[in-house]
Amino acid sequence: AFPYLLVSLAAYLLGSIPFGYILVRLFLKEDIRSKGSGNIGATNVIRSGSKGLGALTFLLDACKGYVAVMLAGRIASMAGLAPVNYQNAAALAALFAILGHIYTVWLRFKGGKGVATALGVFLALAVWPALAGLGVFIVVVVLTRYVSLGSILAAVVFPIFALILPHAPRTALLTAVIFLVPAIVIAKHHQNIARLLQGKENRFGKSASKSG
Ligand code: G3P
Repeated sequence: AFPYLLVSLAAYLLGSIPFGYILVRLFLKEDIRSKGSGNIGATNVIRSGSKGLGALTFLLDACKGYVAVMLAGRIASMAGLAPVNYQNAAALAALFAILGHIYTVWLRFKGGKGVATALGVFLALAVWPALAGLGVFIVVVVLTRYVSLGSILAAVVFPIFALILPHAPRTALLTAVIFLVPAIVIAKHHQNIARLLQGKENRFGKSASKSG
């Protein structure tokens, strides 16, 4: 069990790096959690005044997920696990990187919503469904200007694409993670869902910085 513990811990710690919080603290000397929606993700960093820092947040949050999964493969092979178990190690890493981001130990377990990090882990685990999800995200955001709606719908379609697109055999754990992570991401959007239903959600690009 030790290699799996190591994989999970490493992925959690990588995922827990709150890049949005750190970048805004460093460059704008502000606490992102007291701005806009209060989220530490790229959307709120852009909303709070910096497109560049927002883009960097998105990139770094996605990268940490991707790296966590890649690192899991290395740990699995170095620990001498049977190749069939590499997938399980990678799936665990994906789950723990997301949990690290959402429940980061560095911010009293109140982190982000996991969208960019989910993209990162799934680019490493199921690249075509991940790109299909990204495509849906982009189309929805361009058409509606609701980033949250784009995230939610991408999370809904990703597991469907993962099932229907041709793919190599997957372990039960990987299949579970492909459903579980999007479910967690959607659950983390509960406030956004409430605002969407009330017609009060922030629209991207429309002086959104005033409201939460
Ligand atoms: O990535 C999170 C996005 O879907 C919504 O962010 O700040 O509008 O809650 P926010």
